[in-house]
Amino acid sequence: MIKGQSIIDKIRSVLFRQDHVCPWWLAYSFDNPLRRYLHDSLLILSPYVKPGMTVADIGCGMGYFSLAMATLVGESGSVISIDIQQEMLDRLKRRAEKKGVAGNIRTVLAAKDDIGIREQVDFVLAFWMVHETGDIPRFLKQVRSVLRDQGKMLIAEPRLHVSSRAFHETLQQAREAGFSIVDAPRVRISRTALLQKREK
Ligand SMILES: C[S@@+](CC[C@H](N)C(=O)[O-])C[C@H]1O[C@@H](n2cnc3c(N)ncnc32)[C@H](O)[C@@H]1O
Repeated sequence: MIKGQSIIDKIRSVLFRQDHVCPWWLAYSFDNPLRRYLHDSLLILSPYVKPGMTVADIGCGMGYFSLAMATLVGESGSVISIDIQQEMLDRLKRRAEKKGVAGNIRTVLAAKDDIGIREQVDFVLAFWMVHETGDIPRFLKQVRSVLRDQGKMLIAEPRLHVSSRAFHETLQQAREAGFSIVDAPRVRISRTALLQKREK
């Protein structure tokens, strides 16, 4: 944060910079009754996340979606929650314990340029985080390398941060990285794409 900025300016500078990483303290605003109204996590994820799957929530933050994923994969499945901020992962772990789903969530501290996992997964969620990765083509290639054949990835980007043009550029980068765009599910205040790993 820059000394002398008002709190509103600080929040605005965080919100409107394209590649700025969301600080852990701002993530508290990502889990509240309004968020639950806007983003019904079970409704958004249930078409893709099924019992027994291994799924990854990349840029999981404090785990708003990881907790729902853990419920959907059930005891026979597993969730890998990945973030570059340890504070996010620590809070996620505490919330998962409270909810009784910590047993099937594994947290991974990634680097900005490395998603931090090598094992194969059935589904990847990247919710409101792709624009923070900096090098989107590299990020997409790494995700493709850990997705099983025909595996899917749901990308949602915040409309306020990410212009239609920037999002279409990301979709083009996804095609070049070896994905097909198979759907664009409706998610409030977001631009979305469901990607499927394509045979190269
Ligand atoms: C705006 S928050 C969204 C959190 C969560 N997905 C949600 O919807 O509540 C973005 C998160 O992505 C993480 N992030 C940013 N760049 C990342 C990267 N290259 N790899 C993994 N996580 C990243 C940030 O640390 C932050 O927790």
